Amino acid sequence: MGATVGVGAMVTGIEPSGQILGATVRGIDLAKPLSDANFGTLLQALGRHGVLRFPDQKLEAVELRDFSRRFGRIQATLAGRHHEPGMPEVGYLSNIIENGEPIGITDAGQDWHTDMSYNATIGFVNVLYAVKVPRRDGQVLGATMFANTQAAYEELAPELKARLADKTATHDFNKFWEKMRTRPGSYREPLSPEQRRRRPPSVHPIFLTHPITGRRVLYCNPGYAIRINELDEAESDRVLETLFAHQLQPKYQYTHRWTEGDVLMWDHVGTLHNAVADYGPDEHRLMKRCQVMADRIFDPAFVRESLMAASPAGATSR
Ligand code: SIN
Repeated sequence: MGATVGVGAMVTGIEPSGQILGATVRGIDLAKPLSDANFGTLLQALGRHGVLRFPDQKLEAVELRDFSRRFGRIQATLAGRHHEPGMPEVGYLSNIIENGEPIGITDAGQDWHTDMSYNATIGFVNVLYAVKVPRRDGQVLGATMFANTQAAYEELAPELKARLADKTATHDFNKFWEKMRTRPGSYREPLSPEQRRRRPPSVHPIFLTHPITGRRVLYCNPGYAIRINELDEAESDRVLETLFAHQLQPKYQYTHRWTEGDVLMWDHVGTLHNAVADYGPDEHRLMKRCQVMADRIFDPAFVRESLMAASPAGATSR
């Protein structure tokens, strides 16, 4: 275990989960300003492990926002509500009812998807802070599952890799929204024309190069991808189903079970995820969330300089 001190917080070790994704970061207080050394260390760890857990954090919303925006611009909520008062960058995901209304989005992310793949500027990371975690008979509920898109690309059939190498997919925010609307008890109205205008579909290559690791990833998630543009519709549907089934094989999956005080940060380019809806209306869950865009991370100079500043503590401890 190494240790290099920056301003404020200090990473003292990164412990891999031993699974396909996931690591716990020790010795850093995210309420304090993040040094360049620790920023580089976290970027490196994100590329390597995809999902980083920071246990035992005590954060004000402003601190969560300030930490998150070191990684890029934060997307505000679409509905203009369900967020920290006066701070639309810090959204609430929650089934807690106050004054007859849920205080957060009740069904956020409850199927496999990649946040913000529907944007022209795709998502880079989500940062979630666990304020309240549901439990039943001592069992933690409301886990978040992840799948590794770097590993999924590597093991894709060579003929499919060759065939899709120059192909693109359209991603549409409305696909996931409509899927959530079919769930029993959904409160979601159809998107208004204005909301659709603010979230138009976007086109991205099916395979991206990961900006930190340089590895290829399968960037085509079941939540938002609706069409492979260069194939006819029936063939596109068939290939999409193949890609979705491939990347969701259990061997690529990792599950995070929450504890209050966890901050979890995950890389949207190298993973996709699914919030498990296995808790009831009286089993309360509250997460505070920042959705950070990839507006800086695809700049090679930014990544190179950030990684050069990484501290030796970024070296994995076991
Ligand atoms: C999300 O998709 O951002 C929500 C994940 C979660 O609440 O576990």
